[in-house]
Amino acid sequence: MLHDPFEFEAGQRNDKEYNGMLKETLRAIVLFANRRSKNLRILETGAGTGLFSEVYVPKFPQAEIVISEPDEAYVSKIPPKFKGYRNITYIQSVAEKLKWNGKFDVVVATESYHHIPDKEKVKFFENVYRLLDRDGIVVIGDNFIPRYNVRSTKDRIRALHDFWDPYINEKKRRGDREGVKTFSNALREAESGSVEYKTSMEVFEKLAVRCGFKISIKKELSHDINKRGGYVVYVLKKKK
Ligand SMILES: C[S@@+](CC[C@H](N)C(=O)[O-])C[C@H]1O[C@@H](n2cnc3c(N)ncnc32)[C@H](O)[C@@H]1O
Repeated sequence: MLHDPFEFEAGQRNDKEYNGMLKETLRAIVLFANRRSKNLRILETGAGTGLFSEVYVPKFPQAEIVISEPDEAYVSKIPPKFKGYRNITYIQSVAEKLKWNGKFDVVVATESYHHIPDKEKVKFFENVYRLLDRDGIVVIGDNFIPRYNVRSTKDRIRALHDFWDPYINEKKRRGDREGVKTFSNALREAESGSVEYKTSMEVFEKLAVRCGFKISIKKELSHDINKRGGYVVYVLKKKK
């Protein structure tokens, strides 16, 4: 388990940048939905406790929705949030191995791409490609670290510090010991290559293109993103 699900929800609900990313992710789906006449089939992967599901599910009451999440403690928190909805299926699975007999118009993941281990990321894209309809979209809202030399572990660690140090220093300035602990742990997890596997935008884009996608929309949401990294919402489509 990542963190206690209730602690996780409380932290995320108060995070302005995270909520901005959810808003942009929703906007991308709505834009796509407005251009279509048929009901959407939506797959959400790495849904956690359903924080983003709470945002988009009420907007698409006619959609056929599959919500997936690998962690049992998290996924069990989702169905009680959608008691009135009959067209939602819940699946406990990692995204790269998720099985479904059919295609989706939208595959969406918020802040979960960076939890997929690097060695599974190709499988993730291949599986999403298989599950996506010809004209469908993949919407990925996530955090990216600054550009680094992929052949140098040292340089990747430097990029991880460029990303996390400002958060840690801000918590130190405020005397928030819990905050310092949380962010320092995240940095350690990222450095050791467990739990978190953040990449740069360049690495993400190259892999997506190699796996048959084109980048249709890229919305950078954080200031100073080239220096510090930050939130981006990507909309990917299949190369024709
Ligand atoms: C930071 S949480 C984000 C949850 C949710 N999408 C949100 O926006 O609140 C990351 C989630 O990714 C999930 N995860 C970890 N490995 C995964 C994988 N291989 N495939 C899909 N999700 C994964 C974790 O269990 C966790 O719930």
